[in-house]
Amino acid sequence: MRVIIEADAAAAAATAADFIAALVRRKPDAVLGLATGGTPVSCYQLLIEMHRQEGLDFGQVRTFNLDEYVGLPATHPQSYHRFMQEQLFDHVNLQPERCQLPDGVADDLPAACAAYEAAIREAGGIDLQLLGIGTDGHIAFNEPGSSLAGRTRVKHLTAETIRDNARFFGDEASVPRLAVTMGVGTILEARCCLLLATGAHKAEAVRAAVEGPVSASITASALQLHPDVVMVLDEAAAGELQRSEYYKMAEAAERTRSAAAE
Ligand code: GLP
Repeated sequence: MRVIIEADAAAAAATAADFIAALVRRKPDAVLGLATGGTPVSCYQLLIEMHRQEGLDFGQVRTFNLDEYVGLPATHPQSYHRFMQEQLFDHVNLQPERCQLPDGVADDLPAACAAYEAAIREAGGIDLQLLGIGTDGHIAFNEPGSSLAGRTRVKHLTAETIRDNARFFGDEASVPRLAVTMGVGTILEARCCLLLATGAHKAEAVRAAVEGPVSASITASALQLHPDVVMVLDEAAAGELQRSEYYKMAEAAERTRSAAAE
């Protein structure tokens, strides 16, 4: 696991955006796995700026989002479809037919989940999966106790997640209780995973994910089993890590080495 600790949330977002932009420049038809929540918003803003100012080209990129609430149509203001539209898709040259999210209103949800998995496979798999982390240690909506081999399916949200996400809905009662989510097994098949976490409220979940045992109780800890993971943190989210000095030393050495190689 590569752990990058930046001074603040803005620097962490810039590092995450640079990883994504570098991939898109290297592989113009890259398949990106995208995430929602408050954390990735500033990363998406930077990608929009790169598109506008430097012509970063998303014309051939395909995207798959991690999750969607069950029962919210794409037009619902709090749906993840709408979130992605407003935060990214409307502002870059991604082709609408190349951007997919799980369908939370399908009549046959299990069939829609299987079709989503098939679409990811047909696209050749995800090159880079952007992730956030829930305060309960979840990735996507894989709540504590989720199978670490799980595939895209419907999950019940925990009381903690409902509370955390109520800020987007105005009140807890309006937060859907179910979501369609990629499984941890689906996520671990991405060729690279980039988890972005900022703020002291994420510090305990980050510590458990990076330095705790691999456990279904903290589904983000399954990333320890993946050979290519980058954790991009700000100082606050890294605040509980026991080995932060080691990660900083290793990252500084890595940057010096790659600058010398250029
Ligand atoms: C939701 C999403 C996750 C996201 C998490 C954290 O539960 N399903 O993918 O990582 O929220 O969101 P935030 O970035 O708002 O803290």
